[in-house]
Amino acid sequence: MTEKKIAIISDIHGNSIALNEVIRDIQNRSIDTIINLGDSLYGPLDPKGTFELLKSYNIISISGNQDRIILENLNHTSESITLEYVKSQLDSEIIEWLQELPFDTIIDDICCVHASPQSDSEYLLETFNEGAICMKDFAEIEKLLRDIKQKIVVCGHSHVPNIVETDNKLIVNSGSVGLPAYDDDSPIYHKMQNFNPRANYIIINTLEDLVSIERLSIDYDFEKSARLAEKNQRDDWAKWIRTGIA
Ligand SMILES: [Fe+2]
Repeated sequence: MTEKKIAIISDIHGNSIALNEVIRDIQNRSIDTIINLGDSLYGPLDPKGTFELLKSYNIISISGNQDRIILENLNHTSESITLEYVKSQLDSEIIEWLQELPFDTIIDDICCVHASPQSDSEYLLETFNEGAICMKDFAEIEKLLRDIKQKIVVCGHSHVPNIVETDNKLIVNSGSVGLPAYDDDSPIYHKMQNFNPRANYIIINTLEDLVSIERLSIDYDFEKSARLAEKNQRDDWAKWIRTGIA
């Protein structure tokens, strides 16, 4: 019987300092494969350094909504200071890499999506009730996964790690490597928060029909990342990175 170990990372958001520490942790755990679920480069941090790490460790990547937004704005100037900063850091190799990222993938019978199978910006597990974030009904989650044949589905996007087991599916959100909190206006104003600055990722261990999941919460030099965000005029990102609170 062979045990298989896969590391799932997501939502790095250009935080190469966090990613470096997560990769170091992964290397100590005899992992077979690393899968990155997107939102890799967008943020007031280090998009180029993040790309170099993903490339040098052969990390399999898919696209996130923020990767798509970079591409959609390549040929005109946007109003976002951060988007313009990210664009200024990209060379033709990185742009080509972004253009070739798939929307989803299947690796070792695990279905990998950024957010949901239908959309790169729809939360798969979370919904809103009078402005508060709560878990979707399992029936609603299974409806979103109705065309997925695999039992295990991994996702990111919400930046909050979670493991949900319905009758037919095991859904794992790996959390975020690089950004432990944020606020967003869509679909309504909300805050996503981990209440700590740590870098999150997960490991899926499979042994025959048994599936175990490890949730990792990695310490790193988040102060260095926060100062980089401040240097690139994003005090809000600096606070989110330092505290995990939005
Ligand atoms: Fe994200």
